[in-house]
Amino acid sequence: MNESNLVLRPAVDDDVEAVLRFWKGAAENTDRHDTPEGVRRLIARDPDALMIAELDGRMVGTLIAGWDGWRCHLYRLAVDPAARRRGVARALLAAAEERLATLGGVRADAMVLNDNLPAHEAWDALGYRQQTHTDRWVKPLTGGRPAG
Ligand SMILES: CC(C)(COP(=O)(O)OP(=O)(O)OC[C@H]1O[C@@H](n2cnc3c(N)ncnc32)[C@H](O)[C@@H]1OP(=O)(O)O)[C@@H](O)C(=O)NCCC(=O)NCCS
Repeated sequence: MNESNLVLRPAVDDDVEAVLRFWKGAAENTDRHDTPEGVRRLIARDPDALMIAELDGRMVGTLIAGWDGWRCHLYRLAVDPAARRRGVARALLAAAEERLATLGGVRADAMVLNDNLPAHEAWDALGYRQQTHTDRWVKPLTGGRPAG
């Protein structure tokens, strides 16, 4: 890739539909959180969190780098299948890590499906290590009502 053609920028409201379409073709584990309202809420809450990578003006990658004031969480690292292995993920993560460190973050984490072996290779190559002494504990939030 001609690196100078790769542009990273924060997503804006006008990108929302294109981002959702992009995730259908490029991301893993798209689920019920992938709604226009959800992505707009993210942009409104933290306008720099959702980053888009463009190559010659075409969306080729995304990354959400969430900072809640305490921890840094990375989501939706996704690269267009036609643009993989050209350093797009590397560039997105480098930019996110720089931003998160500037905000005061000291460690970034990512949730990675256990069977997504190519992603394991990528995270590993980019300096991330699997944590083996914790599991995620989750509970659905139902607007204050007890979960059924
Ligand atoms: C995982 C993913 C984001 C990597 O994006 P990418 O732009 O191709 O990654 P990069 O080109 O920046 O690769 C950086 C390094 O990671 C490693 N790597 C990336 N993809 C790899 C793969 N499929 N197999 C082995 N190693 C891989 C390599 O070491 C690579 O460096 P190299 O190409 O110089 O050898 C991309 O394959 C993808 O979108 N996959 C589907 C969505 C997904 O699984 N996202 C992760 C969710 S946790």
